[in-house]
Amino acid sequence: MAKSGALVRRCNSFEHGASSDLLLNCLLNGRTFCVPTKNTDSMVLEEPEAGAPSPNAAVKPANETRKSSANTVPTQSMIYIDGQFFPESEAKISVFDHGLLYGDGIFEGIRFYNGRVFRLDEHLDRLWDSARSICLEIPMSKEEMTEALFETIRKNGLRDGYIRQVVTRGVGNLGLNPAQCKRPSIIIIAAVIALYPEEAYRNGLTIVTCATRRMSAAALNPAVKSLNYLNNVMARIEANLAGADEALMLNDHGNVAECTADNVFIIKKGHIFTPPITAGALRGITRAVAFDVALELGFTIREVDITRHDVFTADECFLTGTAAEVIPVIKADGRLIGTGKPGPITGRIIARFRELTRGTGTPIYS
Ligand SMILES: Cc1ncc(COP(=O)(O)O)c(C=O)c1O
Repeated sequence: MAKSGALVRRCNSFEHGASSDLLLNCLLNGRTFCVPTKNTDSMVLEEPEAGAPSPNAAVKPANETRKSSANTVPTQSMIYIDGQFFPESEAKISVFDHGLLYGDGIFEGIRFYNGRVFRLDEHLDRLWDSARSICLEIPMSKEEMTEALFETIRKNGLRDGYIRQVVTRGVGNLGLNPAQCKRPSIIIIAAVIALYPEEAYRNGLTIVTCATRRMSAAALNPAVKSLNYLNNVMARIEANLAGADEALMLNDHGNVAECTADNVFIIKKGHIFTPPITAGALRGITRAVAFDVALELGFTIREVDITRHDVFTADECFLTGTAAEVIPVIKADGRLIGTGKPGPITGRIIARFRELTRGTGTPIYS
């Protein structure tokens, strides 16, 4: 299989507003030029007003369940905290943990399918990178972490599900100085999630651009998967208020960064585009799988600055994320994308992605 990003070309933004031309120029000429400029196509919907969910919403809100045919699930899930297992009702951490007081910590969400953890090494690497970036020392090795993850899944009798891995700064005092916190805490939760119902994968999602901008890397780099997700939560609230399934977040230049918990891809004339990491996108692990799959299927995929105009005029659009997997988008800010139905290339990527999730990964029970 092709290595992620092997054929990916980075094209800088040249003229904002003329973004379809931008994509096509990039595509046809393969040239990288121009100074990134501020985007004039940055008009966003007004902050939506609270009210009943709009009929535009394609799917019901996220759903979490512990039931799955492949799983033999205990009545209360067992949560790992610092080397010990506690039933859910007794799984507690200190109110002085800076993870709670300041959002000072990091996390990962990992999927396992059919008794195997999907892209485990990539998730561990990203967790360790997040830790390094915020000067947090994870008090165990990657091998020990792997064993703790597996043990948590086994204790919960799961074969298909989602693991939330949290590393907090640990217990300190009320001051924010992390030097007060002597030992980070590790929490692992295994659950079964179905973020969107199966119809959403067949019918597609609706998204709205939110007024909340993706935070700048100069403030807190979105590449750090930190416990401070208020930026995304604010955007999510806007999507809820607008009755949409997801919120499209722009960066300070008015270019597309990502959605609240997913990376964004568009397809135009058979070519696939996604914003670069520098636009404020998380280096998504499902994003990297989409790169692999697209290349394997013979499509070119390019990291370019994308505007709302590009999204509105795309033939297809899809999102990627560990929880959402690969899911089509059929409407953005009230405009139908392409035919208003999930597109054929997206369908092929979803199909191949599903094969990979069922057939690859690190075995949990061997
Ligand atoms: C802000 C944000 N963007 C994108 C993603 C998708 O990344 P991944 O595919 O690694 O789950 C996530 C989820 O982890 C996220 O929280």
